[in-house]
Amino acid sequence: MKKDVDTTKIVQQHCEMDNFFTGGFTIKGAHAEQTQAEPDESAVEAAAELEKIAEEVRQCRKCELGSSRTNAVPGEVNPNAQIVFVGEGPGADEDAQGRPFVGRAGKLLDKIIEACGLKRSDVFICNILKCRPPGNRDPKPDEIINCLPYLQRQLETINPEIIVALGAHAAKTLLDTNKPIGQLRGQFHEYYTGMGRPPIKLMPTYHPAYLLRNYSQDNRKRVWEDMKKVLEELGLPIPKRNKK
Ligand code: URA
Repeated sequence: MKKDVDTTKIVQQHCEMDNFFTGGFTIKGAHAEQTQAEPDESAVEAAAELEKIAEEVRQCRKCELGSSRTNAVPGEVNPNAQIVFVGEGPGADEDAQGRPFVGRAGKLLDKIIEACGLKRSDVFICNILKCRPPGNRDPKPDEIINCLPYLQRQLETINPEIIVALGAHAAKTLLDTNKPIGQLRGQFHEYYTGMGRPPIKLMPTYHPAYLLRNYSQDNRKRVWEDMKKVLEELGLPIPKRNKK
C-alpha cells in the first residue's frame, strides 16, 4: 500500500535546506560545529553594523557624487559571508536600484557565483565607490579616499575569509599598488584590516565588465582558475564546469 506522505514535513525540510544554502546558516570556518537554527549572535551584530554603515552611506555628501547619484549603493547581502566581492563603483542600473551588480556585468557575476556552486545570498557584494560616477567614468582619487573608510568598515565587520577584488581599481586600491591587474590576478595577496587581526586573503581577478568586453575563452578560463583557487582555499567543492 502507498504510504501517506507528510507534505508539511517535506516542505519544512526543504525550507531548512534552502535556508542552509541561502545564508542564514552559513558555515564559517572553524565555527562550523556551532551551526544552529537561529543565526548566531555575531551574525546579528554584523548585520546591524552593516545596516548602520549602509545608512551612513545613504546620507553621505562627502564628495560631488553624493549630489549626482540617484541612489547610493552600499552593498549586500550576507553579513556572515566567507567571500566578499569588491567591484569598482555602481553603474546606471545599480544607481537606479541602489543595489550592486544588477546590470549586465552583474548578470555575469551571478553566473560566476553560480558556477562556484554558491548563491548571491551566500556572499557579500560591494564596491570601492558607493555612488555612481557620472557617465561611468573612472573613480577620482579624492572620491576613493573619501569612500574607502566605508568599505574598510564593511570588511572589518564581515571579516570574510576571502576578498575577491574585481578588476584593476578594486585590486589596486585594496592592495595599495600600481601593478596591473594582469600581474596581480591568479594569486592570493594579503589585505590588512588594521584591527590587529591576521590578514584576509585577497584574490584579484578580471572585472565582469572587462570579461564582457573581452569574452575570450582564455579570459573566461583565467577567471575560472582564480575562482577555483578561492574555492580550494575555502575547502569548498569545485563544481564541474560546463564547456560552452
Ligand atoms: N560595476 C561595478 O564595478 N560595480 C557594480 O556594482 C556594477 C558594475
